[in-house]
Amino acid sequence: MTFYDEVGGHATFEKLVQVFYREVALDPVLKPMYPEEDLGPAAERLTLFLAQYWGGPTTYGETRGHPRLRMRHMPFHIDPDARDRWLAHMRTAVTETKLSPLHEATLWDYLERAAYAMVNTFEPSGIGPEASGRPTLETRARQESTENA
Ligand code: HEM
Repeated sequence: MTFYDEVGGHATFEKLVQVFYREVALDPVLKPMYPEEDLGPAAERLTLFLAQYWGGPTTYGETRGHPRLRMRHMPFHIDPDARDRWLAHMRTAVTETKLSPLHEATLWDYLERAAYAMVNTFEPSGIGPEASGRPTLETRARQESTENA
């Protein structure tokens, strides 16, 4: 019996990720980071990753290869604010998924540590698309060069 089986298999991870992306879709900082307008494919990737991580089928690895999550997140501006938003939506998702207290604590401990590990910047602006009025490094550099001209 893996953790994946214990919590109810694929349906449980689908539910978790579905609630998570329902919240992400409403988040003015996180939503613009997603390269695709449709969050469906991103939801599918996260579901398959989590299922594999917790001992379920290895479909994620077969289709996406080695997770290398830190590297795959480098194009996105993940500062403490983004991390806390991500975790807040996961908190909602974990609560709505209704696991046993032990499973919930185990899953939450992992998600929290993983989210802290994904932070890749403490700069106010920088990586990825503009979000919530935060300029990209390119936009900022352009603004500064016109100001200095
Ligand atoms: C801390 C804040 C985080 C932010 C803002 C964030 C944001 C993103 C974005 C914008 C993508 C690209 C969407 C896509 O095309 O799939 C992505 C992909 C992904 N994220 Fe995160 N993420 C965060 C943390 C995490 C954590 C903690 C995990 C794992 C526990 C995770 C797992 C994944 C996975 C599996 C993918 C798809 C990777 C692939 O196969 O391409 N993310 N994330």
